[in-house]
Order: sequence, then C-alpha cells, then structure tokens
Amino acid sequence: MSSIVVLDYGSQYTRLITRRLRELNVFSVIVSGRADINEILAHQPRGVILSGGPTSVYDENAPGLPAGLLDTGLPILAICYGMQLIAQACKGVVSPSQVREYGKAELSSYGGKLFAHVDGEFIAWMSHGDSVSKLPRGFRAIASTKDTAIAAMEDEERGWYCLQFHPEVRHTPKGNLLLENFLDRTGLKRDWTPENIVTQMTREIRQQVGEERVLLGISGGVDSSTLGLLLHRAIGKQLSAVFVDHGLLRLGEAEEVERALLELGVNLTVIDASERFLQALAGVSDPEEKRKIIGREFIEVFSQEAKAQQSEHGDIRFLAQGTLYPDVIESAGGYGAANIKSHHNVGGLPKDLKFELLEPFRTLFKDEVREIAHALGLPAQLRNRHPFPGPGLAIRCIGEVSRERLEVLRKVDDIFISALREFGLYDDTWQALAVLTPIRSVGVMGDGRTYANTVVLRAVSSLDGMTADWTRFPHDFLATVSNRIVNSVPQVNRVVYDITSKPPGTIEWE
Ligand code: XMP
Repeated sequence: MSSIVVLDYGSQYTRLITRRLRELNVFSVIVSGRADINEILAHQPRGVILSGGPTSVYDENAPGLPAGLLDTGLPILAICYGMQLIAQACKGVVSPSQVREYGKAELSSYGGKLFAHVDGEFIAWMSHGDSVSKLPRGFRAIASTKDTAIAAMEDEERGWYCLQFHPEVRHTPKGNLLLENFLDRTGLKRDWTPENIVTQMTREIRQQVGEERVLLGISGGVDSSTLGLLLHRAIGKQLSAVFVDHGLLRLGEAEEVERALLELGVNLTVIDASERFLQALAGVSDPEEKRKIIGREFIEVFSQEAKAQQSEHGDIRFLAQGTLYPDVIESAGGYGAANIKSHHNVGGLPKDLKFELLEPFRTLFKDEVREIAHALGLPAQLRNRHPFPGPGLAIRCIGEVSRERLEVLRKVDDIFISALREFGLYDDTWQALAVLTPIRSVGVMGDGRTYANTVVLRAVSSLDGMTADWTRFPHDFLATVSNRIVNSVPQVNRVVYDITSKPPGTIEWE
C-alpha cells in the first residue's frame, strides 16, 4: 500500500501530521528520523515529510537525513528542523538565531506550486531557533516574514518543499491547503477511505489467517466490537468471539452489544460471569485491588472459554486484539526508537494457551476505527460511545461493590447519559460518568426527613484523556438531571457536579 512516510525528528506535532494526511484520505506512517533508507522504502512511500524537532543541526549527535533519501527522487516536504537538514545537505547556510521566533506570524508568499490557492499573505505557526540564511543551489525562496527572509523555499523540479513553519497545526489556517498541494505533487491517490480500508484489511486478514481459527475477546467497547465485525466479514465462522459480561457495564449495554453483533451475524458466545465477579469483589474497597481482581477473573473466564473452544473446534491459532496506532507509536518509545514492540500482550494467559497475535487495527487511530464501524454497520449509538474503563462501574462505586449499589449507580448513570442525548450534549462531551459515593447526607422530601446517598456527576472535554477540563453545562440541564435523579432513585438524595480539571484530578474517581 502506497503511503506518505513522515520522518520523526522529535516534533510534538509529528503525530498530528499523520492525522492531517489521514483526514485528507491518504495513508501515512511515522518512521524514526534515524531510520535506514530501506525501512523507509518498505512503506512504499510516494512522498516523504520531515517533521520539525527540538534539536539544532549544529548540535552534537543531531540526527541527519537518512543516507540515500535525496537520491530516491521522492517529493519531500520538510518542516522546520527538516528544512534546515535539507538546506545543510544541499549546501545552503543555516544560521543560529539569537531570538527564537515562536507563535503566530504573518507570512507573505510569492507563488510556487506549494502555495497554489493560498493568496499572498497568510498566518502561520512558527517555532524555531535556527533559520536558513542562504538558499541552497536549485532552490528559490517562496515566502518570508518580517523576521525571517527565507520562511519557505522550493526546488520545484525535484519536488522538494521546505517550510520554516508548521502547516499541520490549526494555528496555520491554510495549512491543509499546503499539505494538499504537496499531495498533488506526489501523485498519490487519495483513496484511504473507510470502505477501502475495510476491503484492504479484509484481504490482509484472509491472507494471514488462511484456514485457521481466530479467537477474539469482546469488551463492549467500540474497538473490539468493530474488530468482531471486520473479522466476521473477513473470515466468517472461523472467528470465535467471546464476550465476558462481568456485570459491571452500564444499564442495558451488554444486551445492546450482544444484539448488535448477533444481528450482524458474528459468531458470538456470551458468558454471563457477573455473579463470579461480584463474589470476587465482595468486601473489597481499594481501587487497585478491584482492578487486579477484575483483570484476574477476566483472564480466568476467558481462558476457560478459550480451552472449551479449542476442544470443540480443534486448535485456535490466532488471538485478535484491537491494538491501535497510538499504542504502537507509544510502545516504540517515540522518537529515535529502533524497534516497534507490542505492549499489548497475552502474558496474562496460562502457558498452555499459546496464540499468535492478530492486530488488524495497528495502523489506525481511534476515529478511523469509528469510521470503519460505520462502514461495517455498527449502530451509531454503539459507535459513538464515550470511553469506558475496562473495570467498568466497579471503579465508580466508591467503597464496596455490591449488586444493590451497582443497581443504584446504573439508574443514576442512565438518567445522566440519557439526558445528555436528549439535550444534544452527548456527542460534544468527551466522557461523562456518575459516581456513587459512600457519603450519606440528610435531606427532606415531602414531609419526611431522608438520609441517603450522594452521587457525583462528572463530564469532561479532552483530546486523549491525558488532560481534561470539566464541562460547563448549562445550569438548566444540570438542574433537570439532578431533579430526575432525586425523584426517581429513592436511595439518592443529593447530586453534586465535579468541577475539577485533570490535572490535578483524574477523570475517574478511583
Ligand atoms: P483517568 O481516571 O486516569 O482516566 O483520568 C483516563 C481515561 O482512562 C480510563 N480509565 C481506564 N480504562 N482501565 C481502562 O480500560 C482502567 O483501569 C481505567 N482507569 C481509567 C478513564 O475512563 C478515562 O477515559
């Protein structure tokens, strides 16, 4: 599959470049700037983008261009540090600047293919110390700012374009146009669409799996459900999907997932293990202990079922996992890492259960999985669900987890989430949840005094869950939810809204 290779020199925006290209329906991969040319060519690039980076070309051990890159004849888009590498390699002059230019700058462009449809002046995000002070041979300057004479340069003949600013960030409003102009120069077809991804992955899965069988654990989340659908499309009954229902999902969620997958024809076994999980959790209040118990029980139930399926169907060779591209990049250690190793492993499974891993989503971002889910017919309600932790409601029942407490929490959570949908706020919220606390407080209802539970509502906006801000909901909405909860869940008489961002708070309470 042809691609654009993004060479990573340590820019905080490297991943964003890949995202932008994917949004433009082009497949792209991140490769370390220190990679060998063969590793780059293995990705069948039609163009190469050099990211920025924190280093100066004059630093000791500064990463250089992969040997042979400039002889490949490939179009190159070089950003910031990348531009300086090209300038240096082509015998231009890079000068250390006394002042770091950082932030928004006004650029004037003077033509060139890269700036097609970008008229004259535009705003761009600059972040650099060094800059090119003398053009390399074959290049001409195509943009400048008041502080930087050569803010962009090109060698149109060879298809090499260099920018002293970041086209990939939103602060460069016309950045996508520049990326599109570069893509036009590479001649790469913009056909990385959900339908094509499905077709291609189906073909690859069939090739890898052949006549063998595949086991897949379904968690109820969008990744594993989508993977189930994809595998079903690719290999039909050779797939055994196993849904371990730990009884810690939201109201009606387990049934919803089961119904959707069965209706779409997935070969699914559902194991209701809720009693077993509840027993194992009885009397446990510590959050980490809860997580450990749930992890351990899950492995046990899953392994038992795997063995049962082995004895029924004979050997199962593959275990499918919904590993995503960010996991792959992270476990590669980011910039400069030589090997990509999977940090999702089956280490927890007993020794007599050996599988080869099948990870069809290794190249995908989360929102691409959602698009594929759409292409495969997963209902919108399941596809666009908020993130949900593996240990489920157990870590939202502060203190002990019991069937009764889970039931209360489920009702509260359902009122909150349903209201979010009703008020059209669900899709704009990154994650929303309810927490049942062990705190009881005094209230008054009708003529009577109450002494009942306190629940917390929490909702956040976030990009990736690493940092988050609490959501400023309209007061009327919060008032409605609070009334509904207290009026219809007798065990609860007080509702509070969490206004802590992350950091210092975490998203979950446990
Ligand atoms: P925190 O609470 O750490 O959560 O701010 C960040 C994101 O991770 C989810 N989360 C978990 N997911 N197993 C999971 O699969 C867990 O043990 C777990 N703990 C937190 C949380 O819901 C949020 O999306």
